[in-house]
Amino acid sequence: MEQKEISQAVIGRLPRYFRYLGDLKDEGVERISSQELSELMQVTASQIRQDFNNFGGFGQQGYGYNVEYLYDEISKILGLNQTHHLIIIGAGNLGQAIGNYMNFERRGFILKGLFDSNPALEGKEVRGIAVQPMENIEEFVKANNIDIAVLTIPKTSAVAVAESLVRYGIKAIWNFAHVDLNVPKGIQVENVHLSDSLMKLSYNITRYDNEN
Ligand code: NAI
Repeated sequence: MEQKEISQAVIGRLPRYFRYLGDLKDEGVERISSQELSELMQVTASQIRQDFNNFGGFGQQGYGYNVEYLYDEISKILGLNQTHHLIIIGAGNLGQAIGNYMNFERRGFILKGLFDSNPALEGKEVRGIAVQPMENIEEFVKANNIDIAVLTIPKTSAVAVAESLVRYGIKAIWNFAHVDLNVPKGIQVENVHLSDSLMKLSYNITRYDNEN
């Protein structure tokens, strides 16, 4: 399928469609109209049609959407039909929690290694994978075809570590450190800040309290 440039706003909504369609598929639902999907997801039917039109529509007049087909197509668009090899840098609380979360593997994100600068953590196992010293990273990245690095280290060292990772051939960084990384064009960075979501929640609580 030929793909035109798709806005980040649409891309940002695809994982949610993907989750809902996955649940529908598991429930044995074969097809769904944009209206039904709209009610389920609390998104307007026109938004759904517009979003899917970016990829050629997928729907058929009078039939709606074939759930499995749509699920597979969105999976391909999100690149989930390929396997990605990950390493985690920073095997502290957050790094270990992410490493212990098995569900990413179902989506093709395979954890290959964990690294930390603290010698006390060397050899500690997370789901059978031993934490390694930072000196091993370069060789490991090159030998294991690693494409994604998860950064769960303090912001003071994140920029320098990211620069090294790019030099070693990493293509993408899932950045949990609270700092903007300075990477060359072509290297993908996704920043995750759980506190942003919490602040949104705080805003909504405050607004609700003030209105009621
Ligand atoms: P932690 O202190 O338990 O773990 C950090 C680990 O990074 C430690 O094991 C430490 O030895 C290692 N480390 C430090 N400098 C390093 C370097 N240069 N190279 C390799 N390893 C290094 O901290 P925690 O709770 O796991 O948090 C990690 C980071 O993630 C913190 O900076 C925190 O602010 C951030 N964080 C971000 C969240 C988000 O939503 N983005 C949520 C929670 C934490």
